[in-house]
This record gives sequence, C-alpha cells and structure tokens, in this order.
Amino acid sequence: MKWVRFAKLVLVLILAIESSCDETAAAVVEDGEAVLSSVVASQMVTHGKYGGVVPELASREHLRAIVPVVREALERAGARLSEMAAIAVTVGPGLVGSLLVGLTYAKSLSFASGVPLIAVNHIEGHIHAVILEARRDGTPLELPALALVVSGGHTHLFEVLEGYRYRLLGKTRDDAAGEAFDKVAKLLGFGYPGGPIIDRLAPYGNPRAVKFTVARMKGNALDFSFSGTKTAVLRWVEARDMEAEIAARRALRTSNPGVEEWLAVTPQATLDLLASFQHSVIHELLTRAAASAESIGARSLIISGGVASNAGLRTAAKGARLPYPVYFPTPGLSTDNAAMIAAAAFPKLANREFAALDIQAQPNLRLT
Ligand code: KG4
Ligand code: ZN
Repeated sequence: MKWVRFAKLVLVLILAIESSCDETAAAVVEDGEAVLSSVVASQMVTHGKYGGVVPELASREHLRAIVPVVREALERAGARLSEMAAIAVTVGPGLVGSLLVGLTYAKSLSFASGVPLIAVNHIEGHIHAVILEARRDGTPLELPALALVVSGGHTHLFEVLEGYRYRLLGKTRDDAAGEAFDKVAKLLGFGYPGGPIIDRLAPYGNPRAVKFTVARMKGNALDFSFSGTKTAVLRWVEARDMEAEIAARRALRTSNPGVEEWLAVTPQATLDLLASFQHSVIHELLTRAAASAESIGARSLIISGGVASNAGLRTAAKGARLPYPVYFPTPGLSTDNAAMIAAAAFPKLANREFAALDIQAQPNLRLT
C-alpha cells in the first residue's frame, strides 16, 4: 500500500492561535478537517464580575495563558512545532491588546521555527468552523452559501462564493445580537455572558407575552438593528418595580449559578420577557438571513458565531423548512476557538498566502 504511505506523508498540520477577545485558544488541525486538539482558556470568571469584557484584563490574561495553551495544543495533538506546515493566527478584528498577544507569540514561533505564518480574519474563522465540519462529515456544503455570523461583536450576512470569496449583504447598524443578549442580561442582573443564561431560561417563559416590533430598515433592508429591542426591554423594566429581584440575581452571579438557582430568583413575568426578547432576536436574524439567501439563490445557509449556540435559534432555523440545508457548528466550534482559524488558513496554505513577520494587528479588519 504505497499510496497510503505516501498519503500519510502529505498530511498537512496547521497550528492556529486565537486571542481576539476573551478566550485564549490554540488548536492543531490536520488537512483542514481533523481537529487533533483544540484548547480554549476562557476568561469568563475574570470578566463575569464586571458584566462584560475589560480590555486591559483580557490582554493580561492572554499573556498568562498563551504559552501553556499553545504547548497543550501541541502535546494533545502529539505533534511538534517543526512538523507544522503553517502557523495560523487571528490578526483582526478584535481588541487590539488581545490580538497583539496571540499575534506576537505566533510571529515569534514562526521566526524561531521557520514555519510560515498565515494571517486569518476572525469572522472568516467563524464561517470556516462550519466548512470544516461539513468537509469532515463528507457533506461539503454547496456554494454559493449565505453565512450569518452572529456573535458578541458581529451580526453580518455574507455571500460565500467559490474560492472563499465573500460579499457583504447586510450587518447590524448598532449592537451585535450577542451584545444585545449580554446587555439585556446585565440590565436584569444576570451574569456575563448573558446569551447562554437567557438561552437556558427562555424555555420557561412565554415568547409571545411581550411584543417587540421588528425594525424596518431604511436603505439596505438586509441590515439589522437591535437597539429598539434593547430599549423596549429597558422601558419594560423601568415601568415595573424590579429592584429587589434584580438585586437578588446580582448577588447570585459570582457563584456561577445553574438554571434552578436563576429560576428561584426570577418571577414568571421576567421569564416571559426573556423568552419574548429571545424570540424577537431569533425572528429578526432568521427573517433577514432567509431574505438574503433568497436574494443570492443560496444553496446552503451557514449560521455561526457565539449566538449560533442558541438552542432556540437552532430549533427555529430547523423548523423554518428553508429550501436549502442549514449548517450550524457543533457548540464547541460556535464560540471562539482556534480550530476554526486553522480551517480558514487551510485554503490560504494551498495558495501560499503567507504573512510577513511585520504584519500588524488590525482591530477593525473587515472581511470584504
Ligand atoms: O463568537 P463569540 O465566542 O465571541 C465573539 O467573537 O464575540 O461570541 C460570544 C457571544 C456573547 O455575546 C454571548 O452572549 C453569545 O455569543 N452567546 C450566546 C449563546 N452562547 C454564546 N447568545 C445566545 N445564546 C447562546 N446560547
Ligand atoms: Zn468570535
């Protein structure tokens, strides 16, 4: 079986590093599809008590974690740095102080080992999380695809064309959807990040109890806006005497409570509000994603980014009977991770799109 031995020899390993926000992550991925290791050091505990990411603390935590996280990724993969075909790293968008830690470390590893560097856009990484899994499962997705990237920093609709070229079709004019989840949760006294907490509590409320109006967009009808929904929640809270229940939840949030503990300090009316808020965000996301997909004749729909972990969104997308398959990443690949960065780097490696060692972090990097 000469061929097998030959095939083994050409297996391509990529080490990827991601540090754009509040997770320090490293992964080793084989041939753009087999995740040999994926290590994520979360800073949730650090930022949780502030109700959001504190940039200075984030870069400090990245500095602390970067060396052990990368070492662990290589160890778990049973691989050495010298065996890598490339080192992929997120160059943007993100917090500059956070990006710099991963980028500087990736550059120094590349310089010391001679392994070439590949610069990856974080948003492209989220899209490739889905492409990686589809390829691995033997069901490569058909293009053109419509990608909805929905996270704490982004709510964007892209057309994905052959050769992984992208066209921006719509984006949020104000908050990202994840940001809206986090802000509503914070306003109501829940912990950070708020998305997963609201997701777990929403099934206990009535999604039709509070009516939210979907923003009508002037100009590009495929753009999103979540500020109206967020303000509607604020007005709802202001119109009620909620101080005691909010204080009870604030007191709880440092202890990493589970659903039962949150339920004990959350009256039915508030659960109804959470369910209605989530329902409204999901409706907004899916309506605009479906309209964009239709406008480009999409053959598949990708929903990726932290908010793609939302169980309500997954159920609604699957139940919408859309005329093309809908792909979500498995939960571990939905939120920030480095395997998706390696996956996005894989086609760039084939095209020998290497980055120079003086490449800068680009906090406002765009995909198109
Ligand atoms: O992709 P990600 O890990 O980081 C960014 O690039 O922003 O996304 C984090 C965001 C946070 O806003 C978090 O609240 C949200 O994703 N999120 C969720 C869920 N899990 C994470 N939002 C709604 N439901 C969830 N299950
Ligand atoms: Zn992200």
